[in-house]
Amino acid sequence: MENKGFTLWFTGLSGAGKSTLAQYLTPILKERGCKVEVMDGDEIRENLSKGLGFSKEDRDTNIRRIGYVANLLARNGCAAITAAISPYASVRDEIRKITQTQATFVEVFVFAPLECVEERDTKGLYKKARSGEIKNFTGISDPYEAPETPEVLVDTSKESIEESAQKIIDYLSSKGLLAS
Ligand code: ADX
Repeated sequence: MENKGFTLWFTGLSGAGKSTLAQYLTPILKERGCKVEVMDGDEIRENLSKGLGFSKEDRDTNIRRIGYVANLLARNGCAAITAAISPYASVRDEIRKITQTQATFVEVFVFAPLECVEERDTKGLYKKARSGEIKNFTGISDPYEAPETPEVLVDTSKESIEESAQKIIDYLSSKGLLAS
């Protein structure tokens, strides 16, 4: 029998490890019988959400688009992994409600303290945000609303990628979403 579909919704600061974790999980989920699609924030902003900026309105539009497509995939038996900051709780909850009528919604808080992601500064954007070169940067000059009751919480400042991935796999297994 085919696996059931689900949306694995990653949320967290830029540089927290959402994309890295999504890429790491993909072959593991495939081995467990899932069809997998990753919708990565940076990539989506190059196509589906091209032209959108970082105001609350634009971010909410971006997230609604990602949520819409993820839901199409999930209800057709796919594991849809999304990796966008998705800083606003209300729109995340809106997507959750829509998805839950047709598939399973799993919110994963990919946490790392601001000091840690700033220190990593993988794309050099935190430096620019601090200097004011980039405005409305999440965590610096724009809000990030942490989920209060995510299904899974990973802390990439303390855990190895294997440990974080295992937490997610364990949760999915416990819900009967993976073939054994
Ligand atoms: S979201 O808020 O709409 O979910 P999304 O994940 O698509 O954000 O895009 C975030 C990525 O855009 C960051 O990882 C970073 O590379 C880039 N970026 C550029 N400007 C900003 C900004 N003002 N705030 C956050 N990320 C930004």
